[in-house]
Amino acid sequence: MDDHIYMDYAATTALRKEVFAEMEPYFSENYGNPSSLYGFASESRNAIEISRDQVSKVLKCRRSEIFFTSGGTESNNMAIKGVALKGNNVGHMVTTATEHHANLNSFIQLNDLGWNTTVIGVNPDGTVDPHLVEDALRPETKLVSVMYVNNETGAVNDIEAISSIIKNSSKSSAENVLIHTDAVQAAGKLNLDVNKLGVDMLSISGHKIHAPKGIGILYVKKGTELSPLMTGGGQERSLRSGTENVPSIVGLGVAITLAERERLSQYSTMVGLQKKLIHGVKKIAPEGRLNGHFNSKVPWIVNFSFNGFQGEPLILGLDFKGILASSGSACSSASVEPSHVLMAMGLSRDEAVGSVRFSMGRETTENDVDRTIEALREVLNQLASMST
Ligand SMILES: Cc1ncc(COP(=O)(O)O)c(C=O)c1O
Repeated sequence: MDDHIYMDYAATTALRKEVFAEMEPYFSENYGNPSSLYGFASESRNAIEISRDQVSKVLKCRRSEIFFTSGGTESNNMAIKGVALKGNNVGHMVTTATEHHANLNSFIQLNDLGWNTTVIGVNPDGTVDPHLVEDALRPETKLVSVMYVNNETGAVNDIEAISSIIKNSSKSSAENVLIHTDAVQAAGKLNLDVNKLGVDMLSISGHKIHAPKGIGILYVKKGTELSPLMTGGGQERSLRSGTENVPSIVGLGVAITLAERERLSQYSTMVGLQKKLIHGVKKIAPEGRLNGHFNSKVPWIVNFSFNGFQGEPLILGLDFKGILASSGSACSSASVEPSHVLMAMGLSRDEAVGSVRFSMGRETTENDVDRTIEALREVLNQLASMST
């Protein structure tokens, strides 16, 4: 890339060279179909199992509890609809207002099929109150799905507290409620130990952690009953049919291992960069509003609203100056619809449309942050002078 400054790591990340190096042989040398019987194919089969082992070490689970998918969207769909398809009757599910659309639209679809769904609101900092999750439980509740880290604001939900409150609830059949978390934005940032989190299912996407796009996993705790969305040749122990994407599976295993190894040192680097960015933005635009709270978010993601401005011209102005950021989530960044996440946090429509998300990553430097602040200052001044 030219001298652009990439401040959009939450949208996607570049494939790491070390990751690509491990993937490369599986494109044209070891290209066997893992399901074929001859010895040549065992190279592919083994590579998948090595990756499964790598992922399971990070999640601290059994290898057999890891299922490869095409990414975070599929993993969320598989968890939510997989539970719904398993039962004979429609039931009830709980989610939150700030989830990714991969989750929310699955709920809408189930709602159309007769399922009852409860979408609980969030605190002003974007986090979910675990007690509200318990309040939403009903005798017929089958699943609670709460994201670990929000993709727009970085807000962190206390999944451990949520699962513990559900498991210890005196409400009837609460102990049978399955818990899913979308950990797509948590991978490489927070602890993914599934036992500590107390979840039955957890989604991860490769392209947020320097693996390729189009690969992900769903962790499914042993004994969890799910119906497959993809039926066919019976791959992935019949839960996810389709010839495996071997190079990308290899890439995901390497990428998640590296991400976990670097997680804590990255965290402290990000704390410093976040501080610099927030202070810098506050200095040039004191009216700017930080969406989310310092103490309840990951430092990688910094989201500001600038009242009186629209996100789109801000993003385009920044792009013109070589800063790549985003407004709301990547999927909705081309539209002027206010972010559903910010609206759920209580922002007005005007505040919600004037938001910019800066998301940093392993190659972000202090100089990048300085240049971002300076570019933002210039863009805000230019846009303000155009509107007067
Ligand atoms: C929180 C969250 N969940 C799910 C997804 C979807 O993942 P994928 O792009 O791998 O389908 C994303 C991607 O932006 C995300 O941020």
